[in-house]
Amino acid sequence: MQPMTDAFYLDAHGGRGRTGVRLECTDCHLPRGNAFKHLAHKTKSGLHDIWANFTYDLDAIDWEKKRDRREEFTLNASCINCHTELEQGAKANPKAFVAHKPYFLGETTKTCIECHKNVGHKDLGFHLSKHKGTQ
Ligand code: HEC
Ligand code: HEC
Ligand code: HEC
Repeated sequence: MQPMTDAFYLDAHGGRGRTGVRLECTDCHLPRGNAFKHLAHKTKSGLHDIWANFTYDLDAIDWEKKRDRREEFTLNASCINCHTELEQGAKANPKAFVAHKPYFLGETTKTCIECHKNVGHKDLGFHLSKHKGTQ
């Protein structure tokens, strides 16, 4: 898990943001509350896969390839749990407000992660390739 952890500590969510807040891994990777009911079956495929892998041979996994399936193990509902201000656009970032409008109006099926592919792990690709080089 070294590349994921390294990349996490360099991310805004890992303590490098303005506020210095550091999340738990499970804030994004495990469902909470209502999200669980709605997404239980989806998480079975994606999340179980990822976390079960902790007990297997981690180095044998092609993590770079798994990134194509990032939506399966990171849930919109987790993001929205914290980013409650987005729908109102209260933070006065017009660019973000315009970008999110179709999402909240239900006019797009795009997920948070489809647009914010790399949140949580800054430069994950770099850290994955670095780790590979040391084996
Ligand atoms: C536990 C609360 C929490 C969760 C869950 C969370 N965030 Fe954040 N997020 C924050 C905080 C706090 C900041 C601001 C960090 C700072 O600047 O100190 C932030 C910052 C951001 C930013 C701006 C900084 C950047 O990295 O570009 C984006 C975009 C973002 N979050 C998207 C997401 C997405 C997408 C998800 C779901 C995968 C998510 N967040 C999950 C709390 C959360
Ligand atoms: C802010 C939400 C967020 C937090 C917190 C977070 N992750 Fe992630 N995680 C993601 C996203 C989004 C991706 C896909 C990132 C990418 O492909 O660049 C991901 C990818 C992963 C992957 C799969 C990587 C791959 O190559 O397939 C693992 C494993 C992982 N995270 C573990 C962790 C661990 C361990 C922690 C805590 C140290 C953590 N995550 C914290 C959002 C988060
Ligand atoms: C259609 C693409 C798209 C989708 C879907 C999307 N975003 Fe964004 N998001 C953006 C863009 C574009 C910005 C503005 C970036 C900038 O200011 O440069 C942004 C900005 C943000 C910010 C920073 C807000 C601020 O005030 O600066 C956060 C946090 C965020 N998004 C979280 C989320 C979360 C959580 C979801 C899922 C509910 C989501 N986004 C879905 C495109 C998207």
